[in-house]
Amino acid sequence: MSRIAYVNGRYLPVRQAQIAIEDRGFQFADGVYEVFPVYAGHIVNHAWHLQRLSQSLAALRIDWPLPPAVLTLILKDMLRRNRIIDGGMLYLQITRGVSPRNHAFPVPGVRPTLVVTARPVDMAARHAQAEIGVRVISVPENRWTRRDIKSVSLLANILAKQGAAERGAAEALFVNDRGILTEGASSTFWMITREGVLTTHPLGHDILPGVTRRAILAMAPELGLQTDEREFSLAETLQAREAFLTSATNFVMPVIQIDAQIIGNGKPGAISLALRKSYIERIE
Ligand code: PDD
Repeated sequence: MSRIAYVNGRYLPVRQAQIAIEDRGFQFADGVYEVFPVYAGHIVNHAWHLQRLSQSLAALRIDWPLPPAVLTLILKDMLRRNRIIDGGMLYLQITRGVSPRNHAFPVPGVRPTLVVTARPVDMAARHAQAEIGVRVISVPENRWTRRDIKSVSLLANILAKQGAAERGAAEALFVNDRGILTEGASSTFWMITREGVLTTHPLGHDILPGVTRRAILAMAPELGLQTDEREFSLAETLQAREAFLTSATNFVMPVIQIDAQIIGNGKPGAISLALRKSYIERIE
């Protein structure tokens, strides 16, 4: 069965789906995206992803191509057409539309481009990885200063991730010029302090407001865990009791090594694994 893509009102086999070469997404990375996780056949934290999409669009002054309720119908249709019945992800991208190349916005009336793709995710492989944990590296923070916008302009993230891959690591953590660890190239970073406090960088322009982050913060008190949203350094992280990453499709992924430093006893931490289990129970 060929995968089906949605492009500006049409459902097409992925290989036939196309956008114009003068699309501003292609010319300038002038667009935003969302990754909606799918678990047990359902879109996870759907309303929160739409809310973040709304914020990204507003920040860049791109119009909704369709009302959010209609987008939701398309997302559900895409699950059905691509037969995603268990784990998967929906990728949604909106650009400022097609117009002759010119940096300033096109004349009013140019319609934003909307693309949606869907694909299954091997959840069993992710669960198996979580039992082992992942190794990560640190890299200098060199992104622009509006990381809260989920923009498709991801060059710094791509280079960081490639650097990690070349060193056999799963993720790159950005560390700014004050030594503060902000987040991963495609994930939110968390540490659990020696005192057992679940700690992550505060919201603002420096990080993407992770939807999984939001869910974990809401869930933690019910598990009797104290949380703290504050800045912390890479140096402090290396002394942490546990560390983990969160993202739409990885949920909670334990970190067992950062650069040359083993975290905890080099195995996924008990609290990290408990959070993962609890998160999955909730989304089921
Ligand atoms: N990335 N920070 C960055 C820079 C990210 O790209 C992501 C997600 C996150 C975690 O956000 P959430 O919990 O909402 O997935 C944090 C997605 C999955 C991606 O780019 O594929």
